[in-house]
Formats: sequence, structure tokens, C-alpha cells
Amino acid sequence: MHQVYSKMIIDGKKIAAELREDLKKKVVELKSKYNSVPGLTVILVGEDAPSKIYVKNKEKFAKEVGMNSEVIKYSEKIEEKVLLNKIEELNNDKKVSGILVQLPLPKHIDKRKVIETIDHKKDVDGFHPMNVGNLSSGYDSSIPCTPLGCSLLLKKIEKNLSGKHAVVIGRSNLNGKPMTQLLLKENCTVTITHSKTKDLKKECLRADIIIAAVGMPRLVKGDWVKKGAIVIDVGINKTDSGIVGDVDFDEVSKVAKAITPVPGGVGPMTIACLLNNTVECFKKTHSN
Ligand code: GUN
Repeated sequence: MHQVYSKMIIDGKKIAAELREDLKKKVVELKSKYNSVPGLTVILVGEDAPSKIYVKNKEKFAKEVGMNSEVIKYSEKIEEKVLLNKIEELNNDKKVSGILVQLPLPKHIDKRKVIETIDHKKDVDGFHPMNVGNLSSGYDSSIPCTPLGCSLLLKKIEKNLSGKHAVVIGRSNLNGKPMTQLLLKENCTVTITHSKTKDLKKECLRADIIIAAVGMPRLVKGDWVKKGAIVIDVGINKTDSGIVGDVDFDEVSKVAKAITPVPGGVGPMTIACLLNNTVECFKKTHSN
């Protein structure tokens, strides 16, 4: 078995690279079976700097595992109708297995309409209500990439999560809510906390597993964490001292059994899971 963490630091970069190697092999198998490869199309609207970096990485890694990869760029002023028409066109394009519209979108574009226009079978983000509903009902669905990545990291540390008490910090549609569904699927007892939670420290101290996905630099302190807990840090916060997570890494790494660093923890898993979802979407559209 591979050593997946040393000094209790979970090496997301390494685990993501292993996942991409597996996907590379799957793409080769699919090519020989169907004479075509999965294709990911990413739509980027506007000039948001972090989005540009994320999209570039998505394109790079998709190509690296042997997929078709296309990025469609629009100006910030694009009309909503043009974007929706493009999505419809991609829905009907057999070469496109997965469609991702990078968020955030400019204010004049209705995010909900955009997400709902994507064919749920090509929804590699798992944001379409059909996928959200299927996930919460325990049915087969596309699973949002970041929570899926967190879940895979957790399973590397602890195969059986049944009965563990997980505390999720943050209730976003992107992370907190789907993360909760995945933990429930693993038979965890889940507490969802958020900005109105009365005593966050007290809640965290009960946790065997903490998932911090709230976007507040170094929020979770060493004395918030039970000895031996597993701590997964989803945060990516820009500060004067560089990029930091939602967890005070220096403090918490002294008490946690295992912890993800930022960067190099959850981040690389998100893209690897996006590629995984693209392969899964390809399979769905080629199964009948
Ligand atoms: N912007 C930040 N994270 C994400 C993501 O996971 N998917 C999309 N579509 N946009 C994002």
C-alpha cells in the first residue's frame, strides 16, 4: 500500500496524480472500446483572475490524461441568450461528454438558468438540480468535484467512516451541502455549521472529522480540534502572507491525526475529480 501521508500531512498532490494515472488508463480503454475519447468543454466568461488559472489547469490536465479538451472564452458583456444557445449546442454535440461553466458569472447572467440548461448527463460539476436531487436521495449522480475529492482523501486515511462524527463548516451548494450528503452516505453523523452557528469551537471539538469550507483564513484553531481528528481544509484564502486555508495549519497539525495542507491538499483533487466525472459522463452517453 502507498504511504498516503507523512507526518500526518495528507499529500493531495500525490493522490491526485495517482488518480490521473488511473484515468489515463481508463481513457485508453474507452478509446479502444468506442473509438472515441471523453471530451471536456469549459466555458469561461470574463476576466476573473483566479478563474483564468483554474480553467487553464483544467484544460492542461484533461489533455494530459488523453481527453479532448476545449475552452470557450466570452467577454464579460456577453448576452445571456448567447451563452444559453452555446450550451444547447454543446448538449447536442456527441464529441462533448462534459460541460463546465466556470463560476462566478457576471451579475447580468442568471447562474441558475445556466446550470439548468446544461444537460444533466453532461453536468461534470454536479450542480444541476437533477444531480443534486439524485445525490441527496442516494441515487447515482454526478458529484461536485471538491467534496468528491475530500471524500476520496478521507477514505485514504480511514476506510470505514461509519459512526464517525463529522462537522462541516460552511453550507454552500458547491461544498458544504454535497459534502454532507457524501458523509451521510458513509454513515457518518453529520453536523452542518455556518455563520449563524452559536458556538463553532464547541461543535468542532466534538468532531472526529472536520471539513472546513467557509472561506475564512485560519479560522479553525488548535484548541478547536479533538486529539486524533482528521481535518480537511477546503479554504483557499489570499492573505498578506500568501495563500492560506480555513484551518490554522501550524496549530492544528500538532493535534490532528491527519490534515490537508493548503496548497497541495484538496485543490489538486478537485481537478482530478473533474476528469473522473468527465469519464463517468462519457460512459453514461455511451451506455445505450
Ligand atoms: N468556481 C470555483 N469552483 C468551481 C467549480 O467547482 N465549478 C465551477 N463551475 N466553477 C467554480
